[in-house]
Amino acid sequence: MPVKKLTKKQMIAELNRDLAKEFSALIQYVQHASVITGPEYDSIAKELVVHSNEEHLHALALSQQVDFLGGIPSVEVGDIHISPDSKKMLEQDLDGELDAIKRYRARITQAEMLQEYGLRRALEDILIVEEEHARDLQNTLRK
Ligand SMILES: [Fe+2]
Ligand SMILES: [Fe+2]
Repeated sequence: MPVKKLTKKQMIAELNRDLAKEFSALIQYVQHASVITGPEYDSIAKELVVHSNEEHLHALALSQQVDFLGGIPSVEVGDIHISPDSKKMLEQDLDGELDAIKRYRARITQAEMLQEYGLRRALEDILIVEEEHARDLQNTLRK
């Protein structure tokens, strides 16, 4: 499939949408880490706090990259999913991570096209962490 041409302005818009989703992931993890219950979820509850902190770092990195590209970093927050059911919470978190992995894979290709190699590197670092987040959730959901 040919990759569509992209302008710097479109890249800024895409990164700002990613940024809004990092803010919502951060908030969602704070909520889920606080309310998830059950002995089988003890260790993942601690992991959710770690994830939340890492989403914060992703938001900072994206915000800086938007600024480097000459854009104004967004302060919008994406959709947040909550549930009274602990397993459902982890499924909601996993959905978010799988979406993030898909988005950052596309974004890395786009950064490459724009020859924005510093941005590509920053996105690769984020992608690695999102893949770890997905694995943590999948391992707990498989038990
Ligand atoms: Fe993230
Ligand atoms: Fe994540």
